[in-house]
Amino acid sequence: MDKKKAILAIDGKDPIELNILRGSLGCQELDIRTLGAQGYFAFDPGFTSTASCQSSITYIDGDKGVLLYRGFPIDQLALNSNYLEVCYILLYGEAPNVKQFHDFKISLTHNSLLHEQIYNLLRCFCRHAHPMAMLCGMTGALAAIYHDSMDVHRKSHRDLIAIRLLAQMPTMVSMCYRYATGKPFVYPCHDFSYSGNILYMMFSDPSETYVINPILERALDCILILHADHEQNASTSTIRTAGSSGANPFSCISAAVASLWGPSHGGANEACLLMLEEIGTIENIPVFLRRAKDKNDPFRLMGFGHRVYKNYDPRAMVMREVCHEVLNHLEVKKDLMEVAMELEYIALHDSYFIERKLYPNIDFYSGIILKAMGIPSSMFTAIFAMARTVGWIAHWKEMYDEGIKISRPRQLYTGYTQRNFNSKITS
Ligand code: CMC
Repeated sequence: MDKKKAILAIDGKDPIELNILRGSLGCQELDIRTLGAQGYFAFDPGFTSTASCQSSITYIDGDKGVLLYRGFPIDQLALNSNYLEVCYILLYGEAPNVKQFHDFKISLTHNSLLHEQIYNLLRCFCRHAHPMAMLCGMTGALAAIYHDSMDVHRKSHRDLIAIRLLAQMPTMVSMCYRYATGKPFVYPCHDFSYSGNILYMMFSDPSETYVINPILERALDCILILHADHEQNASTSTIRTAGSSGANPFSCISAAVASLWGPSHGGANEACLLMLEEIGTIENIPVFLRRAKDKNDPFRLMGFGHRVYKNYDPRAMVMREVCHEVLNHLEVKKDLMEVAMELEYIALHDSYFIERKLYPNIDFYSGIILKAMGIPSSMFTAIFAMARTVGWIAHWKEMYDEGIKISRPRQLYTGYTQRNFNSKITS
């Protein structure tokens, strides 16, 4: 960090000197931490111009469409790595050697079984409950199972928490699917890869041998890699905020799951597929585009636009390729893909989308792949949550490593000034 300064002049008062911080990449940042003590707060709803923390995990250049995990470009990781290796990189900062990877894999497989009470809890939900509601409940319940035994101030315990979450999230997500579809629970199998095991737990029949389709296994792995982390998005900021009070990390994950569920965030993949299905044919696209541009209509083009990317989301590019691969391999109808590609083409040439720099994001193509794999749309955001768990934990761990400070934003108060109280219900 260099020593540049900014001068803030307010109403002829003595100027306030602010340090300018510079990370290893990205914008210069004004260090406003001293402002509060001088009677001023910065006002920035939605954090459009505020860095809430420093972090060395993930970097995004939204103008250039760049995404790096620990410095490694996302397209290289998607092509040449696997999800577990990416998890290791996100959690520990460096690519693992053969032994480190082996040990990591073993520790995950040995922690993948859920406490039986979690299955009992799941059985209390209505079968038609949304899987994200189930996942909120199950992750929250883990806090009850792992509470007294965990000391979040000990690094070894934090590492174990990370392993448990990473190991058990696929089991929970798969169980949500089995429960919702009335199928018997399938326990994790150590013979498969991380993604292969997810396919096995979701789709195998206990009375038959399950053969993993390598194309689908690789496609799922790629989806997990692309969703693994995305710096300070809403759900990651949620886990940092919830965790900043020292709360049980499993309950913090439950808070992150809740935040992810919204249609502006992780819920967009489900909403996008439903939108594409509603559009149905290329002829209907203009009607939906008109609606998306109409300020009196709440409808938005799902899978389009991003707070940070003002260029093509690099994850969407990879996702589009994977989508083609899966559809070609499965030889399924490509009608939704055709609608999506035409919608993308028309929107990218429309002045409304061009002026606002609205490009397809990761959710634009992911739903088509998941649907082709046989995963129902209600499960899409739960798959996203499973993939993002590693990012959430990496940020939660980083927050502790850097020295935990409770999150406590201030506000611009717009209510009444002080006034006297006279009860209206007593005479
Ligand atoms: N369709 C139509 N108009 C849009 C869209 C869209 N998808 N996204 C943004 N706009 C317009 C918006 O109406 C506004 O127009 P104006 O300046 O005339 O008022 C302008 O673009 C800026 O939008 P904003 O809402 O101020 O931008 P934001 O940064 O607060 O929101 C967003 C980002 C992702 C919530 C938004 O683009 C959106 O709602 N997209 C659809 C939902 C979606 O696909 N979300 C997934 C995001 S990627 C996965 C993840 O990381 O969670």
